Amino acid sequence: MADTKKLFIKTYGCQMNVYDSERMAEAMGTEGYVTTEVMEEADMVLLNTCHIREKAAEKVYSDLGRLKPLKAEKPNLKVGVAGCVAQAEGEEILRRMPLVDLVVGPQSYHRLPAMAKAAEAGEKTVDTDFPEEDKFDHLPDRPKATIRPTAFLTVQEGCDKFCAFCVVPYTRGAEVSRPAERIMAEARGLVEKGVREITLLGQNVNAYHGAGAEGDWTLARLVRALAKIDGLDRIRYTTSHPNDMGDDLIAAHGEEPKLMPYLHLPVQSGSDRILKAMNRKHKAEDYLRLIERIRAARPDMMMSGDFIVGFPGETDAEFEATLDLIRAVKYGMAYSFKYSARPGTPAAEKTPVAAEVADVRLQTLQALITEQQRAAQDAMVGREVSVLFEKPGRLAGQMVGKSDYLQAVHVAAPDLRAGDLARVRITGTAPNSLAGVLVGG
Ligand code: SAH
Ligand code: SF4
Ligand code: F3S
Repeated sequence: MADTKKLFIKTYGCQMNVYDSERMAEAMGTEGYVTTEVMEEADMVLLNTCHIREKAAEKVYSDLGRLKPLKAEKPNLKVGVAGCVAQAEGEEILRRMPLVDLVVGPQSYHRLPAMAKAAEAGEKTVDTDFPEEDKFDHLPDRPKATIRPTAFLTVQEGCDKFCAFCVVPYTRGAEVSRPAERIMAEARGLVEKGVREITLLGQNVNAYHGAGAEGDWTLARLVRALAKIDGLDRIRYTTSHPNDMGDDLIAAHGEEPKLMPYLHLPVQSGSDRILKAMNRKHKAEDYLRLIERIRAARPDMMMSGDFIVGFPGETDAEFEATLDLIRAVKYGMAYSFKYSARPGTPAAEKTPVAAEVADVRLQTLQALITEQQRAAQDAMVGREVSVLFEKPGRLAGQMVGKSDYLQAVHVAAPDLRAGDLARVRITGTAPNSLAGVLVGG
């Protein structure tokens, strides 16, 4: 192609942004753009941004500032801002950063190719609509070549929960589920291209209720239908809300071997008063009972979670309640954050906990999580797991893949390739990965 242009995308934030970046790259492909890993050679730089915490949002502005010399050197360089900061700040981005050519929100990115064309003609555009049309209907089919055996697939977007601290309901809009048959078709297409593991994505993925045969489908029904696709070996989903963990989904974990035994189920706090102030609409005890039921269905379930420390008004005793909950659950993995006041959210009106106090709480909580994570890793030694290999390791003949429990596993396997699934016996642990040997190999 004579007029091939190069697109550099930087992705911040959650997996949904990773998926969106892929879809935007594909859409721009129809306009003659190919992606590049080298920012300096790009004709367009697109930042797919995250608004969840202040640091994430501010990073976008410092990265935009760093583009100034490149733009000075290459006056034809186009700069775009997509994602949740784009949605939240819209026009304001153009005012603060005049080098930006286009701003596109997460629900409008099917319009990106047209906006890129306008940018090439010297016109600046901002699109932060929540359009009536479904963007997925206006995006090209997924391209033929995929290089990885794992893929993300967005099934649900937006959030109606309005946790008091969170911007997602504002940046991503109301909950919308994609029709089941579209998801099935996209999944079949991915599997034909060599994908063996699909992670279904949604801000509230277990609230999925997409139109399907005989009425709306739940996430459990979707999972069971996907499990019938030959060649698809593993199904995961993220992120879930405890209140949407339906009986049929719990049952599916006990009955559907392709559904992996790893569940990210954020709870944020172990204190009932804080949970109420956060508008989470459940108690700590409800969460603990829920996990008991999940583990009754699937005893080897590895739990993962998210925690916020220093929510406005959080006392020492309330923080201790969070530690108690963590001790009761025994997580295999968890993410924890210092509360960040976000503009427009109800919690932002309240007096924050002193930064030093929040810092110490974060360190304390993270130390406990690290201890649990290490215990979970150590408990794997001697066990047999399945590993889906994703890429060669650093040593000759070594391959790296993921266990059923989403742990990275290094194995000497010179005859295996990315996309191979094999039984592995775990022989040792490193801080963030496991080592193993092929069973019978
Ligand atoms: N929809 C998911 C995750 C949303 S964002 C859910 O409901 O769990 C991912 C995580 O970021 C949240 O689980 C929460 O722990 C954290 N987070 C969200 N807003 C935050 C804020 N204002 N300050 C600190 N952490 C926040
Ligand atoms: Fe944010 Fe709560 Fe919705 Fe998760 S459930 S995206 S934390 S508002
Ligand atoms: Fe961030 Fe938006 Fe995801 S705010 S966490 S990129 S939904």
